[in-house]
Amino acid sequence: MTLASRMMNLGTETAFEVLARARTLEAQGQEIIHLEIGEPDFDTPKHVVAAGIKALQDGQTHYGPTPGLPQLREAIARNSGEIRGIDTNPSHVVVTPGAKPIMFYVILALSEPGVEVIYPNPGFPIYESMIRFTGGTPVPMQLFEEKGYHPDLKDLENKITDRTRLLIINSPENPCGSALTKAELQTIADLVKQHKNLYVLADEIYKDILYTGEHFSIATFPDMASRTIILDGFSKSYAMTGWRLGYGIMPEELVPPITKLAVNSVSCAATFSQIAAVAALDGPQDDVAKMATEFSQRRRLITDGLRAIPGLSCPEPEGAFYAFPNIKGTGLTSAEFEDRALNEAGVALLSGSAFGEYGEGYVRLSYANSQENIQKALDQLNKFVKGL
Ligand SMILES: Cc1ncc(COP(=O)(O)O)c(C=O)c1O
Repeated sequence: MTLASRMMNLGTETAFEVLARARTLEAQGQEIIHLEIGEPDFDTPKHVVAAGIKALQDGQTHYGPTPGLPQLREAIARNSGEIRGIDTNPSHVVVTPGAKPIMFYVILALSEPGVEVIYPNPGFPIYESMIRFTGGTPVPMQLFEEKGYHPDLKDLENKITDRTRLLIINSPENPCGSALTKAELQTIADLVKQHKNLYVLADEIYKDILYTGEHFSIATFPDMASRTIILDGFSKSYAMTGWRLGYGIMPEELVPPITKLAVNSVSCAATFSQIAAVAALDGPQDDVAKMATEFSQRRRLITDGLRAIPGLSCPEPEGAFYAFPNIKGTGLTSAEFEDRALNEAGVALLSGSAFGEYGEGYVRLSYANSQENIQKALDQLNKFVKGL
């Protein structure tokens, strides 16, 4: 078979590959602690599940409008107005099966050969994968360990050219766990406004898991809502990864092309998931707060535990549920560490190099697992590293 040449440029998300390798070892009787996959280990809140079941029983099993059910688009606009303080309305909202399609569609809609797209590195691997897929030029915005995995904004300024059409930011960040400050976002907004044709894709999917201060969206600054596509969803905030539901809030002129990409690919998100999502947004938020508190305790446990392992250093995560320790002191490459941690320590984690060139020398551990399992993983990793 001859595949289209563009397929050569498509990357992947290795979390799913490591998960498959871990499952194979488990099938052979080995015990593995899963710190590779980025999904909350909590159940979806009960009232949300009940709303989904009721929707199914009420016969909400048909296609819906491509950009989303009107009641969900309204709830998203209202919620975003309340929590982000932006003045938006349902006509700016597009609902998709998971938040990933928003990333896919926005990059497809804006990037092409001759266009540059700036993205965080280490960063979520799908950004670079999609930029390459479209023939655009990926321009990494490096996040520095010594800055707590924040970017150098002078460096960013130098990277923006007349060819830059999109700047991707992700705060709180996967895999580094850093969160941009309001002052940093202000500087980025000022830079963006100096360039007429430059837009921001603000991936805010981890906004509810933040350990210091309050989430702030770049779209809130004057004149930035018309330059920003906010990406958010239900996977992380409401432990709804399997319901596949996310959304974008974008300048109105982008809604028709993004909707066209959705109609060409998925038609619409599942109707019952959307009805459950209205209950998630409009109902009690106690579960969201409870999950964030639990993640905060695990963060303490994992950061302290990793720092106690010889040869490892680990900046304090500010948000999300990932620790990104430097493992250079072990003498192993990231890929070797990933492989040997799985086979010799029984801990599934991800090589930092899976998150871009600047991830080499690091690994990512997702602490979406119980404190008991995290402690066990830390003990096993400590023993493994000491035995190297
Ligand atoms: C930074 C980032 N953005 C977006 C997504 C996609 O989320 P969803 O499961 O809603 O497609 C993820 C999922 O891991 C993520 O880490």
